[in-house]
Amino acid sequence: MARPCECRGSSGKSGSRGEKGRAGISLRPGDPVSRQREHAQQSPRGAGTGFEQKKGSRVSRQSATLKGMFVGRKDGILERFAAEVRPVVEITEWQTDPSRGYGAIRSAPPPVVFVDLADDPFTRLNLASRIVKAAPSTLVFTVCSTKSPDLILEAFRVGVADFLVWPGDEGQAGTAVRRAVEKLGARRSKGEVYSIFSMKGGQGVTTVALNLVDHIRQLTGEKVLLFDLNLYAGQAGTFLDTGAAYTPFDLQRDLKRLDQDLLFSSLLKHERGFYLLPCPEEISDADRIARDDVARMLEVLTTFMHYIVLDLPHDFSGKTLAALEASDAVLLVFQQDLAAVKLTLRVLQFFDESGYGKDKVRLVLNRYNQKAYLDVEDLSKVLHQPVFGTLDNDYDGVMESLTKGKTVDMVVENSPFNVQVRALAGRLTGVPVVEPLKPFWRRTIERCLPGSNGKR
Ligand SMILES: Nc1ncnc2c1ncn2[C@@H]1O[C@H](COP(=O)(O)OP(=O)(O)OP(=O)(O)O)[C@@H](O)[C@H]1O
Ligand SMILES: [Mg+2]
Repeated sequence: MARPCECRGSSGKSGSRGEKGRAGISLRPGDPVSRQREHAQQSPRGAGTGFEQKKGSRVSRQSATLKGMFVGRKDGILERFAAEVRPVVEITEWQTDPSRGYGAIRSAPPPVVFVDLADDPFTRLNLASRIVKAAPSTLVFTVCSTKSPDLILEAFRVGVADFLVWPGDEGQAGTAVRRAVEKLGARRSKGEVYSIFSMKGGQGVTTVALNLVDHIRQLTGEKVLLFDLNLYAGQAGTFLDTGAAYTPFDLQRDLKRLDQDLLFSSLLKHERGFYLLPCPEEISDADRIARDDVARMLEVLTTFMHYIVLDLPHDFSGKTLAALEASDAVLLVFQQDLAAVKLTLRVLQFFDESGYGKDKVRLVLNRYNQKAYLDVEDLSKVLHQPVFGTLDNDYDGVMESLTKGKTVDMVVENSPFNVQVRALAGRLTGVPVVEPLKPFWRRTIERCLPGSNGKR
C-alpha cells in the first residue's frame, strides 16, 4: 500500500497511473483531487451482425452537459450531490446494485460514472478499477464521505478521474467534475486520422481498413469512423454488406450546417459500434468532390470523431493527397511480390520528397508468407525502413468474413490475421491489447502436454 503523502489543495494537478505519494492531494474536507486517467485495457466486445442506422443524437465531448451514471446508494445526501454536478453531468441512471451497474456500463459505457464508496470503500474501489478497465473512454469518479489518504492514493492508482469528498463545500465537487471533463475534452480536441494506402490495387487496403476500424473501436470504445474515399466505386460498404447509406457526397452537401446531431443521426453505425461513411452503391461522379472538400471534411470530422480510418484509392489525386496530408499515420500496405515491393519503394521516395517523416509512414506487409523469397528483414533493408507490422495470409478467415459481410473478429476471432490486426490497432492508438484468456480446457491440456512444464 502506498505511503500516505503530505497533501495540500491542488485539485487541478494530474499525474500518471501508479504514481504514489506525490504532492498535490487535498485532504481538506470537500477538496477534490484530480488526475488524468490514461487509456487502460479492452472495452467490452460486441457481437452479432449487420448494421443499424443511428437514431437520435449522441453526447459529444463538446456538449455542455454529459450523461452520467451513479453506482451506489440513493438518498437525500447523494441526490444533493447529483444536483451539485448537474450543470456538467446529468445523472440519468442510478444503479443501486453494483453488479448490475457494472453490467450496464460494460454493455453501453456512459461518458461519466460516479462510484459511491459507501461503507465498503476498498470493495467499491475494486469495482471502480474494473469499470476503468472495461470502459476506457468513461470518466470514473469516486464519491466518499471520508478522506483517508490510503483510500485517495488507491483510487488514483486504479485510475479514477477524481476522488470527490461528499458532503463537502458547496461548489467543490461540481468544479472538480467540470475540470476533469474539460481536461479530457482538451486532450481529445482533434481525432486521429489513419490512412490505409497502396499504389498497387488488390494489396488488401480495404480489408485492413475495415478490420482495423473494428479493432480500434473494440479497444478504445470511442467514436471511430471508417471513411471510404474510393469515390467512384468504393467497396468498404460492399464488404460489410451495408446497403444504402449516408455517403461522402451527402456529407459534402451537409458540411456547412453539420453539427453533432446531424452527423450522428445520419451516419451508418455498425452494431460493433464504429461508424461508416461508404460510397454509394452505384458508380458515382467522384469529381463532384474536390481536394479542398476532402480537407474540410476531415477537419470537421476530426472534431466529432476520436479516430478516423481512411480507405484510400490507389492514386495520387488531389483528394488522396489532401487525405494523406491530414493523416497522423499512413499505413502503406504491400505484399511480398517484386512488383509490389518496387512500387512501394517508389511511393516511399515520393513520401520522402513530400516531407512525410518515417514516423508518419508505416509499412504493413499483408498476406505475409514466411517462406517467401524476400523475408521481413530483406524487405526492411530494400525499403530502408522497418516493417511496422505483418499480417498473415488468411484466405479462409478473410473469405468467410467477406461472405458473411462481417469483420474477421466476428467470425474467426483467433485467426493469426485477426490477432495481428488487433495488435496493429493497439500500437497505433497506444491502448494496451489484452489477449482473451484461453478456455479452461485448453489451458489444462496445454499444461499436461509433455515438455510444456506447465508454461505457455
Ligand atoms: N491477409 C489476407 N489474407 C487473405 N486474403 C486477403 C488478405 N488481405 C486481403 N485479402 C484478399 O485480397 C483481395 C484484395 O483485398 P482488398 O480488396 O482488401 O484490397 P484493396 O487493396 O482494397 O483492393 P482494391 O484495388 O480492389 O481496392 C480480397 O479478395 C481480400 O479478401
Ligand atoms: Mg479497396
